[in-house]
Amino acid sequence: MFNLINPKQKYPHSRKETYNWKSPYANKVHNSILDFVGNTPLIKLNRIPKDHGLSCEIYAKCEFMNPSGSSKDRIALAMLKDAEHGGYINHDSQFVEATSGNTGTSVALNATLIEKKCYIVTGEKNSSEKVNTMRLLGADVIVTKKSPTLLAREIKDAYPDTVVMLDQFENSVNPKIHYDTTGMEIIDALGKVDVLVAGVGTGGTLSGAGHRIKEKYPKCIMVVAEPDGSTMFNVDSKSHSFLVEGTGGSSIPIVMDKSLVNEYQVVTDEESFLMAREIIQKEGLFCGGSSGAIMAAAIKTAHKNKLGPGHHIVVVLPDGMRNYMTKFVTDQWMESHLFMDPPEHTMRWWNKPINELTLTNTYPVITDTYTCSGALLEIKNGNIAIVVNSKGWFVGAVSKDNFRNLATNPTKLPCQNSEEFNFNDPVTDHLIKDCYKLAKNGKKGMPTMGLISRMLDITPFVVIGQNIYESDEVLFLPESVATGDDILNYIFSFNNKDQRYTNLI
Ligand SMILES: Cc1ncc(COP(=O)(O)O)c(C=O)c1O
Repeated sequence: MFNLINPKQKYPHSRKETYNWKSPYANKVHNSILDFVGNTPLIKLNRIPKDHGLSCEIYAKCEFMNPSGSSKDRIALAMLKDAEHGGYINHDSQFVEATSGNTGTSVALNATLIEKKCYIVTGEKNSSEKVNTMRLLGADVIVTKKSPTLLAREIKDAYPDTVVMLDQFENSVNPKIHYDTTGMEIIDALGKVDVLVAGVGTGGTLSGAGHRIKEKYPKCIMVVAEPDGSTMFNVDSKSHSFLVEGTGGSSIPIVMDKSLVNEYQVVTDEESFLMAREIIQKEGLFCGGSSGAIMAAAIKTAHKNKLGPGHHIVVVLPDGMRNYMTKFVTDQWMESHLFMDPPEHTMRWWNKPINELTLTNTYPVITDTYTCSGALLEIKNGNIAIVVNSKGWFVGAVSKDNFRNLATNPTKLPCQNSEEFNFNDPVTDHLIKDCYKLAKNGKKGMPTMGLISRMLDITPFVVIGQNIYESDEVLFLPESVATGDDILNYIFSFNNKDQRYTNLI
């Protein structure tokens, strides 16, 4: 049994004195979790700067340690308090907000604490972890292909007397609270700041904290981590989709003070997610994907500006890895996006090329002009149809499973009466969200059986085809579809062949 009287017997290395640690929250009770918004720790990085050949100091502002896991707790609480002071919130009020998920989570948290309803509008790319958290908090979450901000405004305009839109993209309370708190906390904790690196979603963090820091340290370099594909700052580049959530876009948001920005660093998805994993693995900071982008940008800036000993870089890590457990935290997800190689194994089929697969099942290929009911007619007894445009390029896939899922889990729009799934909708409205594809001539060459096996750990099927490189675009020409069955058949016949061979000798 555990010996409380003489713990030394069990733990010979423990010191004699009682452990003298006092929690800053000791001897206090708190009336609400909202007491813990802000005042996040600023933590010195110990391994990463060294491992990237840097002698300057990098400090992480750990915004993922806010109650709902992101910097957005600061703005949601402040905007709500401001709306209350302005008399905009009454007994019947409901909230609507457009978000990549973190502000929505925080608005939903605040709303549930004051027993109010909220509608959260978010884009399709945002993680199911965030969507499910908002739903758990009682929010009606509308996942849309359209502009979440426009849809949120439509909802607000349909119910002008009851629905309150805090509107993080236009509300000046957003940068103001970062000026009052985030920026001040960084200065209080560290003193001199030479470089501040942040991502820009609304721009509230950088504008607010940046202003505060620049007032005190006018030479501080303000850096934006710009996702590759975003054209907010990197205006001459080609806009394309990217996987990092919460930052980037096509134009500078209203609350962003662009004049503050000294430089931007473009960071790819691959760099971002690999760096986020590195931060978790080497520093124990459980951050999200955009934090990786911000850190990668900081490292680029430090090298570019030749920062050395005594220079202080602050990186704002906006949210945490729990939002992305099924994404960059999962090895198979990283491998499926070719951001990492699959693990090595000794099975002899593991490194065989996927063109050894015999794919006997055929899948209908339909154009993007089809309706869902048209697609179902083509799918017949199967499950999947591939959707291409008029030139034959891959657009996505639809499946009976996905139609069933959509029909039985309707999106609840406050202004809509019927929730019935409309089978006459175009297929392009109801493509499978995460449809995995694999090019035989992708950036890592012909994929292996090992890779496709790993992909099938996280998806029911993979579309196989060829990349076509057209000027600055990569198009995908679908050829076939592989499922877990195909892989199992391959392994089974491969092992049988092998066995017969060993029996012969
Ligand atoms: C996940 C996430 N949310 C939000 C933001 C952006 O914060 P802001 O809206 O203050 O620009 C970032 C910025 O990096 C982010 O990564």
